[in-house]
Amino acid sequence: MNETTIINPKHIAIIMDGNGRWAKAKGLPRTLGHKKGMDCVRSTVEACYEKNIEALTLFAFSTENWRRPEEEVGYLMTLFLSMMKSEVKKLHKNNVQLCIIGNRSRFSAALQKAMLGAEQLTKNNTGLCLNIAVNYGGRMDITEAARILCQRVAKGELNPKDVTDEILQAELFLSNLPEPDLLIRTGGEKRISNFLLWQLAYGEFYFTDCHWPDFDKQELDKAIISFSSRQRRFGKISEQIIQSGNEKNS
Ligand code: FPP
Repeated sequence: MNETTIINPKHIAIIMDGNGRWAKAKGLPRTLGHKKGMDCVRSTVEACYEKNIEALTLFAFSTENWRRPEEEVGYLMTLFLSMMKSEVKKLHKNNVQLCIIGNRSRFSAALQKAMLGAEQLTKNNTGLCLNIAVNYGGRMDITEAARILCQRVAKGELNPKDVTDEILQAELFLSNLPEPDLLIRTGGEKRISNFLLWQLAYGEFYFTDCHWPDFDKQELDKAIISFSSRQRRFGKISEQIIQSGNEKNS
């Protein structure tokens, strides 16, 4: 495809999988896979702001990842803390707005404080919205939204007959952003793993065997080219999309 015809997604979501297998294949400890994965986070964020992508949401730690060996969980927490401390100045300089999604109550006080500080520092930035999902689960996200609506009904502020998609969506993480239109999952698995279950209803999925520590700007371009070639129909038929002049996804 001609370079000039490429349409960028507005919001890319990534399941950064394969760190452990990348390390194992090289005879290294799993933690080194995560360390190299952090470099790829850096270069992917850079690529997204260079391409003027509106939002990037990275799945860094799921509600289920607490089941991993203590040493690995501890290492990931250290990486998150170091990101909040050492990377944030550069993000701020590049006009990136950082947002943490997920339940952070289980994190150390130091990590919670650093997360809040990073969000506050970057909250007025107008460039890339970088969302890091930590202790995040799509089911938890929807359940929490349902709980909020139930509380509003109990207080008499909301009538159950007025509950709509939009009302529920407004209580979910990322409701302020366009829905992710491209989901990338590295590491060869083809599943959603409880990530953005609601928000990805119409997302285009791109799976690659590339392990996250090998994911570079060229790999990102491949995913965007694949996205760009797809016709997004949102329930309509192909002819309707062609008639409206929106043949390629825009
Ligand atoms: C999945 O690979 C990866 C994770 C659970 C952690 C992701 C973390 C990073 C990329 C580093 C830090 C990121 C930020 C945003 C600070 P896996 O360990 O499940 O790999 P495997 O399937 O090969 O075992």
